[in-house]
This record gives sequence, structure tokens and C-alpha cells, in this order.
Amino acid sequence: MSQRDGQLEAAPPVVVETASPEETFALGAALGRTVEPGDVFLLAGPFGAGKTVFVQGLARGLEVPTPVSSPSFVLASEHQGRLPLVHIDLFRLESIEPALLASLDEYLESDAVCAIEWPERLPVPPDLAVTRVAIEPLGERRRRFTFAPANARLEWAIRQAASVGVSARQGQS
Ligand SMILES: Nc1ncnc2c1ncn2[C@@H]1O[C@H](COP(=O)(O)OP(=O)(O)O)[C@@H](O)[C@H]1O
Ligand SMILES: [Mg+2]
Repeated sequence: MSQRDGQLEAAPPVVVETASPEETFALGAALGRTVEPGDVFLLAGPFGAGKTVFVQGLARGLEVPTPVSSPSFVLASEHQGRLPLVHIDLFRLESIEPALLASLDEYLESDAVCAIEWPERLPVPPDLAVTRVAIEPLGERRRRFTFAPANARLEWAIRQAASVGVSARQGQS
């Protein structure tokens, strides 16, 4: 499974800047078209960074027909597309109860594509290769995405998505 051996093929970071929510959506959508079962994205960044917009794009790329919103009161929402997409938002969580953690671990280890907002609160199983995404607001509409891809396949997919979905250039950090 690619996600488990991902750490052995740790890929260099990919930096992408978007200039609008539409570009962020397009970036997510382009990536969503190529993600594979078990791919996990941990989305870090302040309020309004664009984490949810990115997940909405992922969902579009995964052909999810239902709307993806900020799960304000639910912790996790499951959507069915080309692959299952699990959207988790841990913002409201002070600490994670063991029972809840077990259920989240189940998602992480499943064949669903997982996108997690506020992942700082989640202890990720050490053997699980995840793609970390740090989103920095650079201005009202400009955002810098720094991807740490789980493996070489995802590095390639992210670079492709950036060139397909985003008119902005891929920057160097
Ligand atoms: N380049 C951009 N990418 C994503 N969102 C942007 C961008 N520029 C402005 N925005 C706005 O920022 C907000 C992002 O909201 P949201 O995705 O819910 O953030 P988060 O989930 O990180 O708290 C939206 O109101 C969106 O219109
Ligand atoms: Mg959000």
C-alpha cells in the first residue's frame, strides 16, 4: 500500500500559490481526480485560510454529488464519490476521547480519501504516511500551499494539479 511505504519515499515539498477561492477549488479538484484509496490530507492553517474550499475542490474531483460544508456540529462527514471522501474538522475538539480516536483511526486506515482540518489535535498513527498541507494567507485572496507529499506519486499528482488547476506559478519556498 502506497500510504504505508510512503515514508520510505518521502518526497520534497511542493509550494503552490492560489490567487482566489476559485483557484484553490480548482487545485483541490484537479488533485481529487487522481487521488487513490487511503490518501490522507492533513490541512493546517488559520481560520479562513481555505481548508474547506480545498476540500470542496477535492470532493468535486472525486465526483461527490452532495455539498461539502464546514462540519460545524459534526466531527466527520462521509461523502460518496468515485471513492469515499471523509471530511473531518477537529476545531471544536479540546481533546480526543479514546473511543473517538479509535473511530478516527479507522477512517485513517481505511480506503477512504481523508481530509482533516485542524489535524494538530489528532495523533496520527506513526506508520501512516500522510500528505501535510500548510495553507498561509498572503493577502486577502492569495494563499500559499506548502504540500509535504506522502510519496512520489502524490508529489507528482500535486505538481500536475498545480499546473492544471492553478494559473499561478508554482513557487519555491
Ligand atoms: N485563494 C483563496 N483560497 C481559498 N479561499 C479564499 C481565497 N481567497 C479568499 N478566500 C476566502 O477565504 C475563505 C476560506 O474559507 P474556508 O475554506 O472555510 O477556510 P477554513 O476552512 O480554512 O477556515 C472563504 O471565504 C474564501 O472565499
Ligand atoms: Mg473549514
